[in-house]
Amino acid sequence: MSLLIKHKRSFTTYFVIIISIIVFTRCINNQNIKQKKTYEVNTIVTDTVNFNQFAGSAVCSKCHKDITNDYFHTAHFHTSQLSSLKSINGSFQGGKNNFIYDVGKVVSMKKERNSFYQVYYYKDKEVVRRRFDISVGSGIRGQTYLSWLDNHLIELPVSYFTQVHQWANSPGYPLSPIIFNRPVTARCLECHSTYAQTINYNPDIPPAFDGTQMILSVSCEKCHGPAAKHVAYETNHPKDSIGIFIVKNQNLPRQLSLDVCALCHSGRLQETKPPFQFTAGDNLSDFFEISDAAKKAGIMDVHGNQLGVLSASKCFQLSKTMTCITCHDPHKNEKGKTSVFSQRCISCHSDKHKNIAGVSNDLLRSNCIDCHMPLQESTSISFLLKKNAPPVSAVMRTHFITVYNDETKKFIERSSLKKKS
Ligand code: HEC
Ligand code: HEC
Ligand code: HEC
Ligand code: HEC
Ligand code: HEC
Ligand code: HEC
Ligand code: HEC
Repeated sequence: MSLLIKHKRSFTTYFVIIISIIVFTRCINNQNIKQKKTYEVNTIVTDTVNFNQFAGSAVCSKCHKDITNDYFHTAHFHTSQLSSLKSINGSFQGGKNNFIYDVGKVVSMKKERNSFYQVYYYKDKEVVRRRFDISVGSGIRGQTYLSWLDNHLIELPVSYFTQVHQWANSPGYPLSPIIFNRPVTARCLECHSTYAQTINYNPDIPPAFDGTQMILSVSCEKCHGPAAKHVAYETNHPKDSIGIFIVKNQNLPRQLSLDVCALCHSGRLQETKPPFQFTAGDNLSDFFEISDAAKKAGIMDVHGNQLGVLSASKCFQLSKTMTCITCHDPHKNEKGKTSVFSQRCISCHSDKHKNIAGVSNDLLRSNCIDCHMPLQESTSISFLLKKNAPPVSAVMRTHFITVYNDETKKFIERSSLKKKS
């Protein structure tokens, strides 16, 4: 399985890209030389992060077979993929492949040989078509699709919304006009992929990307640092068993451990350095401005800001040790495994709970989650399904862990219904 995208390109395009990368690398080199990371036994020293430092997660399976096989089932692995019949969750079948914007205004999803298109028809006449090139989102809640337009990526107007199993207007898009040219930011790919080489990066204009130097999915190397050196070393020294040129996350201090996840799970951050330069083990605050306002906003918004929300909880504040990996195994898909997560609560809390009328002790022990981390509607992942209908929101777990009396009531009602039936 190759995770690296390869496109055919003419010699001249390569030439231009190589020149611009050299210029680009030089300008970053001057302003952004990374400090040595001193807390590790085996230091990774990189000046600027570039495509050649990555090995791709397929090769890790040679020596870390179980972890890699588990990882291939995670949402991180599926969060960006080349578009294909398999990676596009919506339907191309006649009758199910349209999104109707208004009378006479339809976007149709079309499969033609091995390519897929969103085609806008106005009064049955084709106006514009764009190809599905990259599918973003594992599909737990939904997917949006990106399309190459020269060296830019644009987000297509029609997305797929899993909750209702149908095509929908992309989040944040108006119903009119129908937009086929909204460029994707580097930040979008920074959260949904491992690496994308920008061309002549300038924060004030839409970024151009080199499609030959992109690594899709949130892969091993996003959390363990670029690993080409590790792979080369371990391949040539099969007798060494320590493992070098790699970030060992379990040795990171709390803040740096949180920073790895916070790159993508702390909501909107204002970048102060070019994209894709943060790697595991760095201080996030050297790359982004992390304002208190963003933290506060996080409490209101459950989308993408698990760290902001969690930091407001007593568990996080008073335990002094809690990180994301206290509860999450980053290599496994544990979605919906309520009793597994509840065991992780019990690792700090006693399994003896205050008595709650109508709920047995066994039930209490097996599901701390529904009462203390209830599902809430996301304020930012919401879809318009029809003109003049209110948007429908996706639901998310809140990471603000506390006592929710209404949820306890609902839990008691649900369990008494189950007992009766
Ligand atoms: C040729 C074999 C080989 C390949 C390929 C390889 N590794 Fe390793 N890796 C090792 C060995 C040997 C160790 C040290 C023993 C151990 O911890 O399993 C190690 C250690 C590690 C560790 C540290 C484990 C710890 O103790 O904390 C991480 C993380 C890691 N590798 C990630 C990766 C990733 C990511 C890839 C793919 C990009 C990869 N490795 C590819 C052989 C390999
Ligand atoms: C490069 C960005 C990035 C990093 C770094 C990252 N994540 Fe994620 N994570 C995502 C994205 C994007 C999704 C949504 C994936 C999807 O469903 O498409 C996600 C989803 C998840 C989920 C939900 C999976 C599910 O099955 O519902 C968990 C849990 C999670 N991440 C935990 C972590 C933890 C813990 C860390 C740090 C060790 C981490 N993530 C680091 C981007 C990232
Ligand atoms: C700050 C990081 C960040 C940025 C920027 C970001 N996302 Fe996300 N996105 C996430 C995380 C984290 C999730 C997982 C759900 C959650 O926490 O809200 C997610 C969820 C999604 C999902 C739903 C996946 C699923 O099946 O549940 C889609 C689709 C998506 N993002 C598309 C995009 C697109 C397209 C862009 C850019 C135009 C973008 N996102 C920008 C972090 C980000
Ligand atoms: C979302 C972030 C994330 C991703 C993706 C990820 N890891 Fe890890 N990995 C961690 C963290 C955090 C730890 C330390 C905590 C732990 O041991 O669970 C870790 C620990 C490890 C270890 C040492 C501990 C052990 O269980 O042996 C190895 C080896 C490893 N990872 C390899 C990989 C490989 C190979 C991949 C890709 C197939 C990968 N990781 C993907 C975050 C990640
Ligand atoms: C790393 C240890 C740790 C873990 C893991 C942990 N907590 Fe806590 N939690 C604490 C500490 C410390 C407090 C504050 C002291 C107390 O109330 O016991 C706390 C407080 C609470 C409170 C009271 C909150 C309030 O606002 O009054 C609830 C409820 C709670 N935890 C539930 C959970 C649940 C549910 C889980 C699992 C999803 C969990 N905790 C996981 C350490 C932890
Ligand atoms: C049916 C809903 C429900 C379930 C399930 C549940 N709790 Fe609670 N929990 C509550 C309520 C309600 C309170 C407040 C009780 C009170 O103050 O009288 C509470 C209080 C707490 C507190 C605050 C401590 C205290 O004594 O005030 C902690 C910690 C806690 N729960 C942890 C857990 C853990 C861990 C689990 C899973 C093993 C769990 N809860 C399962 C509803 C629930
Ligand atoms: C106290 C335990 C705990 C901690 C700490 C924790 N989580 Fe979670 N997280 C959960 C539980 C429980 C769920 C719900 C899992 C399920 O039912 O699938 C969850 C779900 C998620 C999801 C998916 C949200 C959804 O609704 O599908 C993401 C993303 C996530 N966590 C990221 C993180 C990140 C990032 C951190 C660190 C900032 C973190 N979590 C810390 C317990 C925790």
